[in-house]
Amino acid sequence: MCSIIGYSGDDTAAPIIVKGLRRMEYRGYDSVGVATESNNQIELKKGVGKVEEVNTKVHLEKLPGKIGIGHTRWATHGKVTDSNAHPHPSNSGKIAIVHNGIIENFDELKNELQKDGYKFKSETDSEVIANLLQKNFEISNNVKDTMMKTVTQLKGHYSFIVMFENGQLAAARFHEPLIVGVGDNNYFLSSDVLGFIEQTDNAIYIDNGNFVLIDQNKFQILDFDGNEIKPQITKVSKEFADVYKGDYAHFTLKEISEQAETVFSAGENTKKAIKESADYLKHSKNVFLTGSGTSYNATLIAKYLLSKYAKIKTESIIASELQFSPESIEPNSILIAISQSGESADVLEAVDIAKQNDCKIISIINSLTSSLARESDIVIGMNCGPEIGVAATKSFTSQMIILYKIVQELSKDIEIDFEEISSSISQILEEHNMIKKIASEIKEISDIYVLGRGIHYPIAIESALKIKELTYIHAEGIAGGELKHGPLALMDSNVFVIIINPEDSTYQDTLTSAREIKARGARIIGISNKNSDAYDFWIKIPKTKELTYPISETIPIQLLSYYAALEKDTDPDYPRNLAKSVTVK
Ligand code: F6R
Repeated sequence: MCSIIGYSGDDTAAPIIVKGLRRMEYRGYDSVGVATESNNQIELKKGVGKVEEVNTKVHLEKLPGKIGIGHTRWATHGKVTDSNAHPHPSNSGKIAIVHNGIIENFDELKNELQKDGYKFKSETDSEVIANLLQKNFEISNNVKDTMMKTVTQLKGHYSFIVMFENGQLAAARFHEPLIVGVGDNNYFLSSDVLGFIEQTDNAIYIDNGNFVLIDQNKFQILDFDGNEIKPQITKVSKEFADVYKGDYAHFTLKEISEQAETVFSAGENTKKAIKESADYLKHSKNVFLTGSGTSYNATLIAKYLLSKYAKIKTESIIASELQFSPESIEPNSILIAISQSGESADVLEAVDIAKQNDCKIISIINSLTSSLARESDIVIGMNCGPEIGVAATKSFTSQMIILYKIVQELSKDIEIDFEEISSSISQILEEHNMIKKIASEIKEISDIYVLGRGIHYPIAIESALKIKELTYIHAEGIAGGELKHGPLALMDSNVFVIIINPEDSTYQDTLTSAREIKARGARIIGISNKNSDAYDFWIKIPKTKELTYPISETIPIQLLSYYAALEKDTDPDYPRNLAKSVTVK
């Protein structure tokens, strides 16, 4: 979604803010802006584009002053325009705000403010907060009272930072993340520790329904009723500072390439939690799984693995769907929530519904300090390092590895060879000339289908998602056996079909599907350890044990999507209209 950042301290604010925004750009990247306070005046610059572009154009970094706020936007209310970019000043220009989230009652509030004579320059819901704060401040002349009054009037999910012309900062959190970084002589406010990790590893995670006041070097946390809260400082892992692309052209390629190592680290920081989770699963009557996007696709893999190898029946529910059938969660069940960020609003809502039904929450998360981690009974860490590319890559394979580890605890019959998984990933990464060639072939195509059976079906769905996100080509995952029940009608010489077909129990049936499709003129890309005349292009994956294939076959599709994005001249790290962490519903 959006990222917000604030700084108050001894150093010049704007360069620090711009640096933080660059690191948080994954959250939203259609526009950017910074406002600072200098000599009791607010100065503001903003524009459409990524941080680098806007900074080059309007020199955000040159704004004067030691206090400031900044924002990267992912449009929800109003188009991507300069005037909709944040920060938004209030009518008097004495207050400026940055906001992440959605104000549900903004229409109502805007009407009231307009009746009072307030004018609006943007189409955003956020500008309402700026003017509401101005109105309340003009009455109370006190920042604390202004914040307390304003939060009672706002409905929705939000975190915002407000800067007053005298340099006071305040920030509130309601169902959107807000973290304070505490340095030697400075304070940072941010949506993510990445916003300040280069400056300090001391973080305070602000709880829901709390707000923060920063005046000179005085710092206070209060709840929405105005009661003071004792700050709790957490040391943030320095690994989060390691988010540079290094020699790679894009984060996405770097993260795809890291998978030969992340296979080993998945869950290693929370080994006990894996054992504990297996124990709970053994004794629970009902197990539900939830997630969104790629993480939901991982729940489909879990369903397959748990039923086949551990004889545990589960139900996968798309996180955003649970609110429409909350009764499908039986009381006292287990809910396994999978989320890279641990901040997806839909997943948090699903967890909330499950908790109301007294369910135990086991979560598989990359960010162990996320909101989901704090809502969970057991937390398993993906431990794959920060994933900045908007498309999930290494987090997906880490999710799978953790699921393998849980199943291994439950069933002594299966043995996972992590060395073999890692070395097949390395091999695919080294020999990907064919993938590059296919990427140049598919760039003009409008439809790609991905077909797989059994455990390869969830991989087909995930592959289609990756292709859509990175290349903007329409793609769809098909369960092999469903071909004749409809999708075969789509097959002609205008489409490419990726056939996921390693030599396992699904091999012969899937090869037959490939031939049926080829007979209709579509071009076939076979992903397999074995070549066939049914394939127009063969992406070779190493021959391995059966359970290793879902991971090995994922890597070529990630690479194909990445290289096709380059062919199409789109930005693989920041696909249009998307954001890394979807903290709004
Ligand atoms: C796909 C992708 C998204 C996320 C989804 C859930 O490449 O990145 O579909 O998987 O938004 O995000 P998390 O896992 O952070 O809950």
